[in-house]
Amino acid sequence: MEEVLLDKCPRVETERLVLRRWEERDLEGLTEMCGHLEVMAFFGGAEAPAEVERMLDRILARQYKYGYCFPVVEDKQTAQFLGFCGLNYQETDIPSGPGVEIGWRLKREVWGEGIATEAAVSWLGFGFKTLKLREVFAIAVEGNRRSENTMKRLGMTYCEGDDFIDSGLDAGDPLAKNFLYKITYEQFWGTGL
Ligand SMILES: CC(C)(COP(=O)(O)OP(=O)(O)OC[C@H]1O[C@@H](n2cnc3c(N)ncnc32)[C@H](O)[C@@H]1OP(=O)(O)O)[C@@H](O)C(=O)NCCC(=O)NCCS
Repeated sequence: MEEVLLDKCPRVETERLVLRRWEERDLEGLTEMCGHLEVMAFFGGAEAPAEVERMLDRILARQYKYGYCFPVVEDKQTAQFLGFCGLNYQETDIPSGPGVEIGWRLKREVWGEGIATEAAVSWLGFGFKTLKLREVFAIAVEGNRRSENTMKRLGMTYCEGDDFIDSGLDAGDPLAKNFLYKITYEQFWGTGL
């Protein structure tokens, strides 16, 4: 019998966006976005081009291994790189891990237009319907209000008692504390998004 492999990161079009797999050509857009101080405020500051190159190598390796890794968000009209948003397999032993998380990072110019929500709704629907996930979680560094607002807009709920300290940072580091949000299959279909 012929085996059909499931594409875990198909090219998807939403109202304003194209969501797709990473390619080498995304380095320029990723470098510009990750070089921006405000975008990187909760990730330890702007990243130098060489660091971003290593980041893209890690993303491509993870995409190859798991089938997806926070997919690219592109403007449907202009094909411009806007950032990334979508599912990622989180293998660490944080609360709720290992499992599938959803995350996002967008170029500063396009914040406040509902783009993270538009992309995330599409990937959550795909995750629950096609990948048959039972739940998806999301992580925000303490104080990242914009990201927490997106989680709430998506119908995700704060998991009280599951706050955790990033194991790579000192407990006193202002970026060390993380909040966890979650959405289940049943909750997602109940949101009407
Ligand atoms: C977090 C981040 C991805 C949010 O992106 P976003 O596209 O602005 O988020 P949303 O989709 O939730 O959009 C919400 C905003 O768009 C507005 N909006 C406009 N049109 C909208 C629409 N059609 N649907 C939903 N919201 C819309 C909302 O009113 C809201 O505005 P506000 O921020 O002034 O309250 C972005 O701020 C970012 O990249 N931050 C830096 C990286 C980061 O910290 N990532 C998170 C790591 S945990």
